[in-house]
Amino acid sequence: MSTSRRDFLERSAMLAAAGFAPRTISFDEWEAERARVPAPLRSAGKNCVVGSANGLHADRPSGVKIAYDKIMKGEDTLDAIIAGVNTQELDPEDNSVGYGGLPNADGVVQLDASCMHGPTKRAGAVGSLEGIDTPSKVAKAIMDYTDHIFLVGHDAKRFALAMGFTERDLLTPKSKAAFEKWKADPKAYTPWVKQPPNRMRPRGGFDEQDYYEERGIPWTHGTINMNAVNAAGDVSSVTTTSGISWKVPGRVGDSPVIGAGEYTDNTVGAAGSTGRGESNIMVCGAFLAVEYMRQGVAPEQALVNVMKRVIEHSEKRLLDDKGRPFFDLTFYAVTKDGRYAGACAYEGAKYAVCDEKGPRLETCAYLFKQAERPRRG
Ligand code: GLY
Repeated sequence: MSTSRRDFLERSAMLAAAGFAPRTISFDEWEAERARVPAPLRSAGKNCVVGSANGLHADRPSGVKIAYDKIMKGEDTLDAIIAGVNTQELDPEDNSVGYGGLPNADGVVQLDASCMHGPTKRAGAVGSLEGIDTPSKVAKAIMDYTDHIFLVGHDAKRFALAMGFTERDLLTPKSKAAFEKWKADPKAYTPWVKQPPNRMRPRGGFDEQDYYEERGIPWTHGTINMNAVNAAGDVSSVTTTSGISWKVPGRVGDSPVIGAGEYTDNTVGAAGSTGRGESNIMVCGAFLAVEYMRQGVAPEQALVNVMKRVIEHSEKRLLDDKGRPFFDLTFYAVTKDGRYAGACAYEGAKYAVCDEKGPRLETCAYLFKQAERPRRG
């Protein structure tokens, strides 16, 4: 007998003796365990779309309204919210999404997106996609036409082109100018936190949003997330982004990560996020929010709980000495029975909603007052 197998058997015997032996449960026991979980939520017959604030516009049709109107006409919830985020992906003025999104450190726009469709329990995702302006539709095509969930990079683009998507230069004169300004600034932010032992020679340090605001250099880790429920209680979610600006080429954020950027469970609801993706990936925030809601926690409290978990799970360099984050992250949720919420770390953030009362911004729940927000010295 090999040493490792003997070790394994000895360790298993010790664990069994200590009462830690793995145990199988019967189907009846499993059913009894499931019965202890709160009952799945029931539809309240309400149509509702909830997402990030860039889903609402005063001067043109809002993404949340476009999605809501489609749901009212009986269209599928995922098709509706994908149409809702498409307007943002195609808007050259939104520098955090699709066409006009800020590029990576090489000046190349790389897009991420994911979606989930509650009724069919299906999902699709795409990462580091170049040259296609609607990654949310590519994510849905992966969901609809393949047995896979996640395609990335060069081959994701090949897939999109084969599916009939059209290639396009995603840089606009504005995003190109922003890139040139960033590149010309020797002290500007880069995502490197440590000098690597090679000749890549990263510059800068942590994401200094204040630094950019002061110098008028655009910077973003914005994104658009949208979640919807219809009167039948069917739920879907989608998130799409150009990711953190000036990122290391090939970086994929939270948006295309199922369970982080968005998540749907048709028995409970959906959740999604915008903001610092790395912090969200660490806690699988959208999945965690849906899990809290499954256990009966109200959507606002569920999102606040997730935000607290993010902070608890953050490295020291990302927090001030009182444990308050230097970064922004916002979560959004809708339940199968039509309740909804948004939450983030700092007071003042808004989220977009559209239901029978029409499209509007509502105020996110928060953990800290704006005055408590730390600024890097
Ligand atoms: N949440 C967008 C990103 O970090 O890429």
